[in-house]
Amino acid sequence: MTAIGVFDSGVGGLSVLHHIRQMLPDERLIYVADSAHVPYGDKSADYIERRSIALTNFLISQGADAIVIACNTATAAAAALLRREFSIPILGMEPAVKPAVAATNSGVVGVLATIGTLESARFAALLERYAGNVEIVTQGCPGLVEQVELGDLYSSRTRELIERYTAPLLARGADTIILGCTHYPFLAAMIREVVGEGITLVDTGEAVARHLQRRLLTELPSHAVGNASAQFFTSGEVTQATRIMSVLWGSPVEARRLPLEFA
Ligand code: DGL
Repeated sequence: MTAIGVFDSGVGGLSVLHHIRQMLPDERLIYVADSAHVPYGDKSADYIERRSIALTNFLISQGADAIVIACNTATAAAAALLRREFSIPILGMEPAVKPAVAATNSGVVGVLATIGTLESARFAALLERYAGNVEIVTQGCPGLVEQVELGDLYSSRTRELIERYTAPLLARGADTIILGCTHYPFLAAMIREVVGEGITLVDTGEAVARHLQRRLLTELPSHAVGNASAQFFTSGEVTQATRIMSVLWGSPVEARRLPLEFA
């Protein structure tokens, strides 16, 4: 059985884990929410690199054969370093600019993401490569990740933030909005309510899971079908993590404490 290690700054990466579970129903999944250090969006690249190394070391100590960085911000800051430091497959994720550019009719695409992602060299390179003639309007969303960490998906405060961050995109004529942070798919229902039916929402989770499936087949071909399991760890508060992860995962989970040496 292959073990897949998945990490994020917090609980957002569970949106990616859902797709991984669907695509790879028989694998062992190990998830770490780095909730003691969330949000990554306003941290330095150095800080995120250090956290990403620690979390990857932990996942490997738990038997991970491949790592998914279920976080756009950590991918931008640390994917290159992780690939240099570790020899197992390391998969990252980035805002879905290519499919969004293909989907737009108005010629304007909005991107909701963290400041860290939007200011990264990796994001600039992504636009350079795929934007073409399409106008890309970006919007950092301070505070939104924190709402998801609290499990506060439907409150008036969450709605207010979503209205504030989507208004400039709609005003510029965006008909396609990229959810460029793995926490945001958990807000998709509220975002849909605010922006209306005519707007296409694009997220990267499913594409990452498909990519992972392909890489496992080619790079770890011996992986045998085993008993599916999923384990959940957090560097944050365990009781709160258990409650919120159970809601976001859709069935009861027991969050365990990340050992101190990795926290
Ligand atoms: N979930 C993350 C992402 O995809 C990071 C959010 C944060 O911690 O700022 O970018």
